Amino acid sequence: MSQSDNTAIPGGKLVLVEFEDGIAWVTLNRPEKRNAISPKLSDEMLSVMNALECDERCRCLVITGAGDSYSAGMDLKEFFRETDRLDAEHKAAVVRSAAEWQWRRLMYYMKPSIAMVNGWCFGGAFNSLVACDLAIAAEEATFGLSEINWGIIPAGNVLKAVSAVMNQRDALYYTMTGETFDGRKAAHMGLVNEAVPRARLRERTRELAKVLISKNPTAMRTAKHACKRVRSMDWEDSQDYLFAKLEQMQFLDPEKGRASAMSQFLDKKTFRPGLQNYERGR
Ligand code: COA
Repeated sequence: MSQSDNTAIPGGKLVLVEFEDGIAWVTLNRPEKRNAISPKLSDEMLSVMNALECDERCRCLVITGAGDSYSAGMDLKEFFRETDRLDAEHKAAVVRSAAEWQWRRLMYYMKPSIAMVNGWCFGGAFNSLVACDLAIAAEEATFGLSEINWGIIPAGNVLKAVSAVMNQRDALYYTMTGETFDGRKAAHMGLVNEAVPRARLRERTRELAKVLISKNPTAMRTAKHACKRVRSMDWEDSQDYLFAKLEQMQFLDPEKGRASAMSQFLDKKTFRPGLQNYERGR
């Protein structure tokens, strides 16, 4: 993929992108349909994510929704009913495009990511919620695994996402009852990192994004990917993998952060790693 020309703004229809000091605010934009995920929205989101991955204006990705919803999940009309008549090949293509942005790409995105849950968050929306590295919700947001209410199961990897971050009792409770819960409860269960009043949501998300942006990007990327990869490894494989990544990083890090930080701590005594970042670019 070529470097972006740093002028064009990706998306613009069903997905809006706004840049602000290294943060790419990415907004699912079908407020009149509560940002339900249609095949067209998935295609546009995938192309936005492709573009932002190589765009210097994006050093942290924030996904949110327009209006009063994060997303009402998969579009019952365009994603389900209208694809029922498709042959297996075309149906698989639609499902793959959704999976691609919602978790496969997002899970191992090159930039840190935050899901900013501003309102309704149902079913299929749990994929991007969990695949983002961090999540902040409005206390007033409403979450639900509503599939049981309309006679299906949380497929499209929603149950996989839920079982990665929620405990088994909570995951089963909400899957089996279809009850809704708010942002505070989502934070209490570990589905999101924290919940704040809606009026503070953007400000708190911006604050967190700035912290992520301030870190060494090579270390950031390697750390978050590794944290996810080792979950499915045994201790021996994990030890080996992490050591290999640590060594690989020293070759890949253009700012040679490790050496610079060690010198600032051990020789110059200008910073304490336990308490702050080393001074980058020195
Ligand atoms: N798929 C398709 N359309 C959806 C949708 C979805 N998941 N969620 C909302 N919409 C549409 C509605 O059909 C309606 O369209 P219309 O104006 O053309 O009639 C519009 O969005 C507004 O929805 P409405 O139900 O009137 O809004 P609300 O604010 O009263 O309620 C929700 C919001 C999210 C509680 C409600 O829309 C809902 O239950 N949506 C389905 C949630 C769900 O089960 N998602 C799981 C899918 S995997």
